[in-house]
Amino acid sequence: MSVCPTIETERLVLRPLRDEDLDDYFAMMDSPEVRRWLHLPDTFDRDAAWAQMAAFLGQWALRGMGLWAVEERSTGRFLGRAGLHNPERVDWPGVEVGWTFDPRYWGNGYATEAGRAARDFGFEVLGEERLYSCILPDNLASQAVARRLGFELQEERVMAWYPDAPHGLWVTELSPSAPD
Ligand SMILES: CC(C)(COP(=O)(O)OP(=O)(O)OC[C@H]1O[C@@H](n2cnc3c(N)ncnc32)[C@H](O)[C@@H]1OP(=O)(O)O)[C@@H](O)C(=O)NCCC(=O)NCCS
Repeated sequence: MSVCPTIETERLVLRPLRDEDLDDYFAMMDSPEVRRWLHLPDTFDRDAAWAQMAAFLGQWALRGMGLWAVEERSTGRFLGRAGLHNPERVDWPGVEVGWTFDPRYWGNGYATEAGRAARDFGFEVLGEERLYSCILPDNLASQAVARRLGFELQEERVMAWYPDAPHGLWVTELSPSAPD
C-alpha cells in the first residue's frame, strides 16, 4: 500500500491531507470563486468536502497518487490542494495534475510551484510519460498555470462526468527540454 509522501519546495510543504484540515478545506471550496470555477453544485457541503478529502487521501493507498494539502512553509498555513488525480471515470484521460487554492492566496505563484512539484513527481516517481490537466475553456487562471508548467491544449471534448460543457484537455510529455 502506498502512502502519501511529504515534499518541500522553496515556499511550500505538500503533505497528506489531515482530518484537522476540514475547516480550511471547506472554507476554500465554499468560497464563491472556487465554487464558480469548479462549477460545484449547491449540494457540495461540508460533508461532501470531507468525503472528497478522504477520497484524495485514499487514492494514494489505492493508486499510489493523489492530491496533497499545500501549506505555506513559513507559517504552516493551509493554502490549497494540488497533486495527481486518476479517478475511475469512464473517459478520464490518464494522470491529471490538478490545483485549487484558497482565493486569499492567489497571485503568489503557489499553484505553479505546487503544480511543478506534482508534475515532476508524476514524471520522476510515477514514471508517467504523459500528464494531463482537464480545464474548462473559460478558466484562464488555470490555463495560465498549465502553460507555465509546459502543458499544451490538445483538444476540447465533453467528458461523461461533466456533460454541461467541453473541457480543454491539456497535455505535457516527459522530455529533456521540459521547462523548469
Ligand atoms: C487556478 C488557480 C489555482 C490559479 O491560481 P493563481 O494564484 O492565479 O496561480 P499561481 O499560484 O501560479 O500564481 C500566478 C500569479 O502569481 C503572480 N506571482 C506573484 N508572486 C509570484 C512569485 N513569487 N512567483 C511566481 N508568480 C508570482 C504571477 O505573476 C501570477 O500573476 P497573474 O495572475 O497576475 O499573472 C486559482 O485560480 C484557483 O484556485 N481557481 C479555482 C479552482 C480551479 O479553477 N482549479 C483548477 C481547475 S482546472
